[in-house]
Amino acid sequence: MASERDVRARLQRAGQEHLLRFWAELAPGQRSALLAELAPLEPEALREHCRRAAAACARPHGPPPGLAARLRPLPRERVGSGSRCDPETRRRWEEEGFRQIALNKVAVLLLAGGQGTRLGVTYPKGMYRVGLPSQKTLYQLQAERIRRVEQLASERHGTSCTVPWYIMTSEFTLGPTAAFFKEHNFFHLDPANVVMFEQRMLPAVTFDGRAILERKDKVAMAPDGNGGLYCALADHQILEDMEHRGVEFVHVYCVDNILVRLADPVFIGFCVLQGADCGAKVVEKAYPEEPVGVVCQVDGVPQVVEYSEISPETAGLRAPDGGLLYCTANICNHFFTRGFLQRVTREFEPLLELHVAVKKVPYVDEEGNLVKPLKPNGIKMEKFVFDALRFAENFVAFEVLREEEFSPLKNADSADRDNPSTARRALLAQHYQWALQAGARFLGARGTQLPELPCLPQNGDPPAICEISPLVSYSGEGLEVHLQGQVFPSPLILDEDQARVLRPQES
Ligand code: UTP
Repeated sequence: MASERDVRARLQRAGQEHLLRFWAELAPGQRSALLAELAPLEPEALREHCRRAAAACARPHGPPPGLAARLRPLPRERVGSGSRCDPETRRRWEEEGFRQIALNKVAVLLLAGGQGTRLGVTYPKGMYRVGLPSQKTLYQLQAERIRRVEQLASERHGTSCTVPWYIMTSEFTLGPTAAFFKEHNFFHLDPANVVMFEQRMLPAVTFDGRAILERKDKVAMAPDGNGGLYCALADHQILEDMEHRGVEFVHVYCVDNILVRLADPVFIGFCVLQGADCGAKVVEKAYPEEPVGVVCQVDGVPQVVEYSEISPETAGLRAPDGGLLYCTANICNHFFTRGFLQRVTREFEPLLELHVAVKKVPYVDEEGNLVKPLKPNGIKMEKFVFDALRFAENFVAFEVLREEEFSPLKNADSADRDNPSTARRALLAQHYQWALQAGARFLGARGTQLPELPCLPQNGDPPAICEISPLVSYSGEGLEVHLQGQVFPSPLILDEDQARVLRPQES
């Protein structure tokens, strides 16, 4: 192991010697832990990282000058729509998606390295329960959707197939996620098909470019953003693992979208039939100021432009049909070919931009006291997964309905959007609709039959509670056999075991 002298000399070269200022007070175990953390940091890279962080943070924020003139919406022929296409086209896409899944060519890749600071829990977000009647966690819902989509593809093609699940974690999330999966028997997936790997970490930096000590013996490190994916794929030979399994198409998604359709056959089929190497699922932007990135073109190149980079005037521009001109909101839900991921990891990764996130970073002050700052005091530098879109040779976007496919869990319930309640309601509203479409009716609190509602109030609770296990239905299919013509008291939980035994009251 590197000696204190070596490490001190390297830190001096990086201008970061303050990281050893409590050395004299540390016990031997703490000293070795700190040296082990500092030794891999290359002095030049550390100096440059700290310099870039402070410089990027000092730059004025807001729309970059001249960007508006370079922006264009995506050309129509690059955008498919899952909701506006005719049923036959949709069926063709879905069929192609299932065919690729049945051929074992499709994998899903979960981005689960984030710290979930806004939600404010101390464990990985995937382990969160939003309060569903079944008490399922986000991880469990996702695992069950994988099992169901495998089953559907297998049934259609008379084969047995696998959708491997790659999970990118970080120093914060790997241990607890691995333990959670073990404890839950991998939700009945074969552990050999669940591959967890870890992204890199970068030091958090003060506004004047000094790496932060979070304890006397520990540097404050943060995961390098979900765009750390590309380095992590290379670090852990994940693309080789995919090649070995015959995977050609990868569906990448975020942990926090409770409605996410893993390995969505419609999306996969659309992208494959378009010959795309890279795709983004999008939803319609709800209103001009909505804080979401927009998938569009800059100088003719597909990109996600963040909301902070678009002026209110540009965001409010209207298309001839009266809708927003820049209406395609990015939901961090991507299709990549393995070949594309290979090109990005080998050639383009160093060109990805580093974005500044200003956060509250706990630290030790000069006297050695632990401080939990009340306002942001530190800079975390992050890469974004979508920054690789610009390297696509054949990029496509695919529009889906928000109420069907997107409800992210970002905040605690104290916030008014994207919180546990909105996520829970989005899922239950969807399941209630599915049940109605399958011919079920529900009883209200006083035992009277509830009217069928063609449209649910936005963000409101559905009139009856109905939760359908992903093992029973992936996207609303196959429910008639359990529900048609029957009347159920609320709550109804339709899960794999109960689907057969559940005997509802007749009206
Ligand atoms: P967010 O940008 O919402 O960040 O991540 P977060 O860390 O989950 O939450 P906050 O900002 O601290 O409140 C979007 C997706 O990217 C993943 C997250 O796990 C989530 O699925 N992510 C984020 C990573 O995999 N690695 C990172 O370094 C950051």
